[in-house]
Amino acid sequence: MDAIVAVYSDWGIGAKGTQPLVIPADRKRFRTLTDGAAVIVGRKTLEDFPGGKPLKNRRNLVITRQDITIEGAEVFHSTEEAVAAAAESERCLVIGGDSVFRQFFPHMKRVFVTKIYAVPHSDVFFPDLDADPDWQCTEAEPIQEHEGVQYQFCTYERI
Ligand SMILES: NC(=O)c1ccc[n+]([C@@H]2O[C@H](COP(=O)([O-])OP(=O)(O)OC[C@H]3O[C@@H](n4cnc5c(N)ncnc54)[C@H](OP(=O)(O)O)[C@@H]3O)[C@@H](O)[C@H]2O)c1
Repeated sequence: MDAIVAVYSDWGIGAKGTQPLVIPADRKRFRTLTDGAAVIVGRKTLEDFPGGKPLKNRRNLVITRQDITIEGAEVFHSTEEAVAAAAESERCLVIGGDSVFRQFFPHMKRVFVTKIYAVPHSDVFFPDLDADPDWQCTEAEPIQEHEGVQYQFCTYERI
């Protein structure tokens, strides 16, 4: 199972339920890498999507403890259920948010990280893969810039 995340310099990933600083090229990369795949997403992050709707052209596996149905998505009530369902898809990426990244972390073999070299205030964080000996950066694209903010696409793999 893979994951995709945009992190700030302190590995922060968001504040007050949203991402304080967004890079358009990161959104594009997200669309490209998740296109046609299954995505595992927490109910709160789903609410932060445009219109609060599931992503098109992806199999949306939404995790919630509530007894709800969501049009265009499959609803699961535990990580185990979602992991079993994800196994039916050829490709699956965990797309957040914080609680989902943490609970699915042991299942991740590869993480597509967009490093945004800025430190807006975050109240949720992704595990620092640079400080984790179980992970190595296997690909780092050249640093790019958008409106004065530098960013870099990196791939991390579990050793
Ligand atoms: N930088 C990035 O790449 C990135 C990507 C995505 C999100 N984010 C950020 O992450 C933050 C949101 O993270 P979050 O942790 O607050 O929310 P979340 O992980 O998106 O969703 C949390 C919800 O998921 C459900 N859930 C979690 N674990 C569950 C389990 N074991 N069984 C059943 N349901 C479970 C619960 O839904 P119910 O309450 O319905 O029971 C819970 O309230 C935002 O700031 C967002 O911007 C950042």
